[in-house]
Amino acid sequence: MATDAGVALSSSQLETSSPAATVDTKGCTIDASEFQQKYDDLPAWDIGRPQPEFVNIADHLHGSILDVGCGTGENALFFAERGHTVTGVDFLAGPIETAQRKNSERGCDVTFKQHDALKLSQLNEKFDNVLDSGLLHSFSNDDLQQYVAGLAAVTHPGSKLFVLCFSELEPGSKGPRRLSETAIRELFADNWKFESMTRTRFIVREDTQANYSDDGPHAWFFVAERV
Ligand SMILES: C[S@@+](CC[C@H](N)C(=O)[O-])C[C@H]1O[C@@H](n2cnc3c(N)ncnc32)[C@H](O)[C@@H]1O
Repeated sequence: MATDAGVALSSSQLETSSPAATVDTKGCTIDASEFQQKYDDLPAWDIGRPQPEFVNIADHLHGSILDVGCGTGENALFFAERGHTVTGVDFLAGPIETAQRKNSERGCDVTFKQHDALKLSQLNEKFDNVLDSGLLHSFSNDDLQQYVAGLAAVTHPGSKLFVLCFSELEPGSKGPRRLSETAIRELFADNWKFESMTRTRFIVREDTQANYSDDGPHAWFFVAERV
């Protein structure tokens, strides 16, 4: 099935095999300079509040939290305000500084630090929960494998993973690569048990809405438990 192949293919295969490429349009990791360019402007995802999917599951989340690719920190701060111990990491200094400023303004106690999500094991810490809002779909196939290995290193059996990522239902090629449900399930087949996989939308800034589907880019929101 075309949508299943994405994660297993190399970048070069993705460029040449058209059925898979219609789903996984980007075989390259989005690097720091590309993200920095987005932050130099106003990024589509920086909506000044948590993504609703994370708000919806808040009552089901217990214990410490790592927010990977936390950006300017809205999801991390939301959970800190609910009493969780939260660490937020992002590889860019700018968004981390903004997150730290919001942290003091709101009287929160999140640990925000600059750290590469592809080196999660170097955090030398284990978390009860990991949040990923918009990072997973930024990686090439090889980096996806490395990222998922890092997620295992910062979790323990019973830890929960909450991910919001672009789905193959989003037409066109604006934004990051699209991931299919099957590709996601393959990626997390070892070490994780899926609890839910929901079709949903990203909320994006109103001024960027025209780049995506009405009601926001199609997305997957999934919850998995570390086994
Ligand atoms: C789409 S944004 C989402 C930001 C935030 N989670 C939110 O929902 O507003 C993805 C974030 O991941 C960060 N990022 C991308 N690659 C990363 C990496 N290798 N290590 C750490 N952060 C990364 C980017 O700088 C950016 O802030």
